[in-house]
Amino acid sequence: MKTLGLLLVAALALSGSYAVDKNNFKTCDQSGFCKRLRGFKPEKSQYTLNLDTVLVHGNVLSAEVNTVDTSTPQRTVLWHYALRLSALVDGTFRVEIDEADPLYPRYRTQLALKEEPKADGLKLLSNENGKLTLANTQGQKVIITAEPLLLEFVNAAGEVAVVLNDNGQLVVEPLRVKKERIDDDEANVVDVQEEEGTWGENFKSHHDSKPRGNEAVSLDISFPEADHVYGIPEHTDKFSLHTTTSGEPYRLFNLDVFEYDLDSRMAIYGAVPVMYSHGTKRSAGVFWHNSAETWVDVVNYADSTVVSSLVNLVTGGQKRRVDARFMSESGIVDVFVFLGEKPADLFRQYTALTGTAPLPPKFSLAYHQCRWNYNDEDDVRGVDENFDVHDIPADVIWLDIEYTDRKKYFTWDHLKFPHPAEMVANLTAKGRKLVTIIDPHIKREAGYFLHEDATEMGYYVKDKDGKDYEGWCWPGSSSYLDFFNPVVSKYYAERYQYDNFPGTSKDVHIWNDMNEPSVFNGPEITMPKDCRHYKPPQDGNDGLAAFWEHRHVHNEYGLWNIRATHEGMLLRDNSKYRPFILTRSTFAGTQRYAAVWTGDNAAEWGFLAVSVPMCLSLAAAGVSFCGSDVGGFFKYPEAELMTRWYQAGAFQPFFRAHSHIETKRREPWLYEPATTALIRDATRRRYALIDFWYTLFYEHSIDGLPVMRPLFQEFPAEEDTYTIDDEYLLGNALLVRPVVEPGVTSVKVYLPGAASRTLWYDVDTYHAHHANGYLTYDVTLAKIPVFQRGGSIVPRKERVRRSSALMADDPYTLVVALDINGTAQGSLYIDDGETYEYLNNKHIYAKLTFEPNAMTYSFIDENAHYPTRSWVERIVIAGIKSPPKTAKLTQAGKQTALQMTLHKGNDVLVVRKPAANMAQPWTINFTY
Ligand SMILES: *[C@@H]1O[C@H](CO)[C@@H](O)[C@H](O)[C@H]1NC(C)=O
Ligand SMILES: *[C@@H]1O[C@H](CO)[C@@H](O)[C@H](O)[C@H]1NC(C)=O
Repeated sequence: MKTLGLLLVAALALSGSYAVDKNNFKTCDQSGFCKRLRGFKPEKSQYTLNLDTVLVHGNVLSAEVNTVDTSTPQRTVLWHYALRLSALVDGTFRVEIDEADPLYPRYRTQLALKEEPKADGLKLLSNENGKLTLANTQGQKVIITAEPLLLEFVNAAGEVAVVLNDNGQLVVEPLRVKKERIDDDEANVVDVQEEEGTWGENFKSHHDSKPRGNEAVSLDISFPEADHVYGIPEHTDKFSLHTTTSGEPYRLFNLDVFEYDLDSRMAIYGAVPVMYSHGTKRSAGVFWHNSAETWVDVVNYADSTVVSSLVNLVTGGQKRRVDARFMSESGIVDVFVFLGEKPADLFRQYTALTGTAPLPPKFSLAYHQCRWNYNDEDDVRGVDENFDVHDIPADVIWLDIEYTDRKKYFTWDHLKFPHPAEMVANLTAKGRKLVTIIDPHIKREAGYFLHEDATEMGYYVKDKDGKDYEGWCWPGSSSYLDFFNPVVSKYYAERYQYDNFPGTSKDVHIWNDMNEPSVFNGPEITMPKDCRHYKPPQDGNDGLAAFWEHRHVHNEYGLWNIRATHEGMLLRDNSKYRPFILTRSTFAGTQRYAAVWTGDNAAEWGFLAVSVPMCLSLAAAGVSFCGSDVGGFFKYPEAELMTRWYQAGAFQPFFRAHSHIETKRREPWLYEPATTALIRDATRRRYALIDFWYTLFYEHSIDGLPVMRPLFQEFPAEEDTYTIDDEYLLGNALLVRPVVEPGVTSVKVYLPGAASRTLWYDVDTYHAHHANGYLTYDVTLAKIPVFQRGGSIVPRKERVRRSSALMADDPYTLVVALDINGTAQGSLYIDDGETYEYLNNKHIYAKLTFEPNAMTYSFIDENAHYPTRSWVERIVIAGIKSPPKTAKLTQAGKQTALQMTLHKGNDVLVVRKPAANMAQPWTINFTY
C-alpha cells in the first residue's frame, strides 16, 4: 500500500508514464553534510593517535586521537577524540571514534545489534616506530599507524583485507555552541564566520532547524585487491555496486518514494549499512553502525569509468582495489570489520551481530493474496472460495487500510466488516490466515481512543518546539507514536491484545507499512529531522541533552515500530505462537522481527527483473525473508508478465500478489484459463517445496546464512559468478534463473562449479547438465528454469491441498540428485508449524544421505522429536549409473523389501512406496 494519492495515479493511468518525481528528494548537493563532506579531499588526514595514551584492557584498546594542525610548527591540537578498538569473537573488530568530551552525548544507534557483541581477547604485540600491532586470539591482526591515523586489518592468511582512513576522509564534526550576535553596540558585534547551513538548512518549502549545528561523521574504507563490493540495500541498482564518482553516491535514508526508479542509487524504503568486498584474492566486510541519513561513495578501480590519473594518485598505479566512503549526518564513527575468509563467513559474521530471522510460522512461506483493497466480507469470502473453485492453493488473505473505520487502526469498518471473527474463522477452517495492516500514523480525531490516549499521556513524537508533531498521511491529520519511549512501545504492544483488537485471533497477523515514516506533507515525504524523540533521562535532561532529534534515529524508526508490534504479538497469547509481520521500512536488525517486501513496484518487466538483485542484496544484509509484489503494485500486468511474475515469486522467499486500488482486478482466475493454469502450476510448485523452504529458514535461524544466495557464496573462486544477479541459489541445492524477459524462447543460464565437476539437474526432466559456465536454455511460457545441484536431496510434498496447513501429514517425495561420485545429502526440518514448542525439542531436524550402498534418514538433533504422521511415498534418484538389484528398508528393527522402477533412459530410479515413517530414523540398503 502506498504513497500520495489517487490523483497522481489517475494522472499516471491517463498519461501512461511512470516516473519518480526527483524534485521531491535531495541530491547529495542538496543535502548539507553530503555536499560538505564530499568536497573534503585532504592531502593528509589531520587525525593523529597519541601513542602516550594507549591502553589495552580486556578486549579493548583505547587511546586519544587528536586533530592536529600540522601546518604550524606548534602543531596546535584542534580537537580531542576517543578511539576504541574492540576484538570480538568470530574474527570481527569494532572501531568507535567519538568526541572525547562532547558538548552533549552523540547518538549511538540502539536497536541494530541483537545484543552486546561477545568479546575476544586482544593483545598488543608491539608499539614501535609510530605503529601499534595488535592481535585477537584467532590469528587476525590490526596495525594502527599513529600519524596520520590509519588502521589496517589483517586476515588469518596474513593479508591486509580492510584499511580505514587511507584516503584521509575520517571526519567527526565537533558539536559546538552557537555563538550569538551581540547587537546593542555595533563595535561589539562578533561576526561568527560559519558556513551557511550550519544552524539550519532549507529544502523546497521546508526549513530544517539544526539546534546542534553540523555534527556529521565520515570515514573511507578500502578493500585492497577486491574485485567488487556488494550490499548497502535498499536500491534498485545491480547487486555488484558501481563507481559513483561521476554521479550521485548511494543514499541510505528510509523514504516512501512514489514510483521509484530502476537502476538507481536513490534512497527508497530501507537502509542497511553493511558492505562486503569479494574477489579472487579474498573477501571482507564492514558494518557502518549508524541510523542517520547516510551517503556512500564507491570507487572500483577496475571500472573503466575510473580515470587512470585517479588510480595513480590514490593507489600508485595499483589497479585492483575498491574504496568506499560512508558519510552520515550525525552519530559517531562506529564500524565493525569482518575478516571472515569466504563470503559465507562474512554473511554469518554480520547476522551474528544483528541477528537472524527467527523461524517463521510455516504458512508465511506459502502463497499470500493481497490487494488494496478486499472491500468487504463478501469480497474476502469470494476470493477465498475462488482459490478452491480454481484449485489454487493459498494460505493468506490480506486486508489493506480500507478495512478500518476511516483509517483508525485497531478498528474495523463496521459496515463492510461487521463480523471479523466469523470471517477469520471461515478462513481458518481451511487452514488459511488473515493479515491486516496497521500503520504507525495515528488519526488525530476526537473520540479515537488511540489519539486521546497518546495526546493525554504525551506518547507522540514532538515537533521542534516540543508540541505534538502533526503531519499528513492516509487518515488526514496524523501524529506518530514515539516508540523510542519504552512506555509508548509497551502501550502500543498492548493494542494487539485480542481484547483490544476485537476480531483478531492467533490466525491474524500484521503488516506494518508506511513506517519510514511516510508523511505526505513532510520534507522528502517523511518526518522533519528536527522532530524530537524520547531519550532516557540518564544522560542528563536539560536543553539539547533531553531528546534525540529525528535526524539521529531516522533509519531505525521503523525498526522500533516493528519491535513493538512483535512484542505485542507475543504478548497477546503468552508467547505461544510465532508471529508473522511484514514491514516496508528496513534497517540493520529488521530480520529479527519481520519480513520485508520491496515496496510499491509496477507491472513492468524491469521491476520483475530487479526483484532478484534487490532481494539478493537484502538477503546478504541479513534479510532473507524478502519478496516483491507479484504482478506489480501499480499498473496492470498482462498475461505473460503475470505468469512470469508468479513463476519468479514462487521461488522467492516472500510470495505475495498485491495491487493498487485503482488497477483492474487481477486474481488468478480473472485471466484466460490458459494463464490461470500457468499461475496454478507455479503456485503448486511453491507448495510442493514448502518443507524445503521451511528447512532453509530453520537453518538460517541457526547459521545466519542467506536463504536466497548469490552464486559466489557457494562458488567463491569462480569469477564469472561475481556479477551474476539474475539467478541465485536457494540454500545450496536449487539454482533458480527466473524468466524476466518478454517473448523469449530461450534464456542464458550460468551453471557454476565446472572446476568441481558439478552436475545440475533440470527439476522438470531430471536431465543432468555438466557445469560449464553459460548455456542457452530453451523455455516455453510454462518453463521455470530451476536446477537441482548434483549431490543434494530435496524434500517435496506433491499432493494438492487448499493450504499448507492441510499438507502437514502428507507424505514426502525425496528427490536425490547424485553427484559424479554417486552420493548426495540433504536435510529436513519438521515441527507443528506455528508454536514455539520446537524450542523445547518438539521438532525433527534430520540429515538425509545417499551413498551407493545405503540411504539414511537420521536425526541431527538427537534429543528432539516430533510425532509427524508423514511418511515417504517415493524416492526419486536421478543420475544413477548402475541401478541396484534390491532395496531393503530398515526402521525400528523391522525390515521390508522395496520395489524399484527405472525411468528416462535408465538414469532415474524410483523407489516406490518405502512407507517409512518420518518420525523415526530409517535406512534403505541397496545391493548390486
Ligand atoms: C462464513 O461462512 C458461512 C458459510 O459459507 C457464510 O454463510 C458466512 O456468511 C461467512 N461469514 C463471513 C463473515 O464471511
Ligand atoms: C568425489 O570424490 C572425490 C574423492 O573422494 C572427491 O575428491 C571429490 O570432491 C568428490 N566430488 C564430489 C562432487 O563430491
